Amino acid sequence: MKRYFNIILSVILILAFASCGKKKIPEGTEKDLFVIGFSQVGSESDWRLANTESMVQTFKNENGYELIVENAKQQQDNQLSAIRNFILEDVDLIIIAPTIEEGWDTVLNEVHDAGIPVIIIDRSVNVWNKDLFLTNIGSDFFEQGSRAISWLEENDDSSPGNRLKILHLQGTLGATAQIQRTKALEDAMKEHPNWTMVSQLYGDFTEAKAYEVMTEYLKKSRDIDVIYSENDNMTFGAMRALDEAGITYGEGGQVKIITFDATKKALQYCLDGKINLCVECNPMHGPYVLDLIEKYRAGEAIPKQVYVEESVFTKDDLTQDFINSRGY
Ligand code: AHR
Repeated sequence: MKRYFNIILSVILILAFASCGKKKIPEGTEKDLFVIGFSQVGSESDWRLANTESMVQTFKNENGYELIVENAKQQQDNQLSAIRNFILEDVDLIIIAPTIEEGWDTVLNEVHDAGIPVIIIDRSVNVWNKDLFLTNIGSDFFEQGSRAISWLEENDDSSPGNRLKILHLQGTLGATAQIQRTKALEDAMKEHPNWTMVSQLYGDFTEAKAYEVMTEYLKKSRDIDVIYSENDNMTFGAMRALDEAGITYGEGGQVKIITFDATKKALQYCLDGKINLCVECNPMHGPYVLDLIEKYRAGEAIPKQVYVEESVFTKDDLTQDFINSRGY
């Protein structure tokens, strides 16, 4: 009896281990799914939700993929745990949208030792060995900042002898989007003696944090000409604080607003004259990543850095039809 029990137990264990391996598509189809572990930053912004959705819609089972999405809630430690779990699950490939640039060497070496390829999307990682990842797909954040600066240079209407007072709302410190957009502004400050930074406030790319810091700031000073806000959701928080303080903004208002992302809601504010400039940050990474993965799987060479296509929008560039057709 004991012998039969042992045989049954062995069969159960073998089946259990077999099911821990690569996932299969439903019965009746014969192809294995290519399993991808995706460590996403969080859900801090409308941009981020659109980015996750683009990946989910691209890497569907019917396209031969299984995408396991782990939301890191904007904490790098959560990303490190998720990535180590992906190694244990023996996924076929890992995609990382890194919270910040530093602190990836150890975990990426572990992934490398496990023989799992890695793709970095959206932001970048600063690692000593660039062979630890296949490619980095995302935005040229410095170019985005430079586009904002060019617009501000053309629209600096401060009168001679007067300073242009800029308030800077910063995203998550150490994230590529923050580092490069900040660098573009700080470089420009050195070139423009009449521009002055009245404050740099930390908004962590969230509406709630930006609303909180702006509300506090406006209790001390209302003397602002421009808000350079490193993402749309922080802009929405700042607009709420300005409304409550009774300060006008946008076209014909006291404060000019420059925002990054160009999500549907921000574009609508821009068309309505509430935001002056929307610098686009394209979240639709799915098709770009798919193209590179398919090339990689076919044994083709892929570029180390890929930038997504982006633009800038003022009211003059927008129509209601365009905004209505925007998916995010
Ligand atoms: O890294 C891209 C930035 O991260 C987007 O500008 C922002 O909205 C997001 O949270």
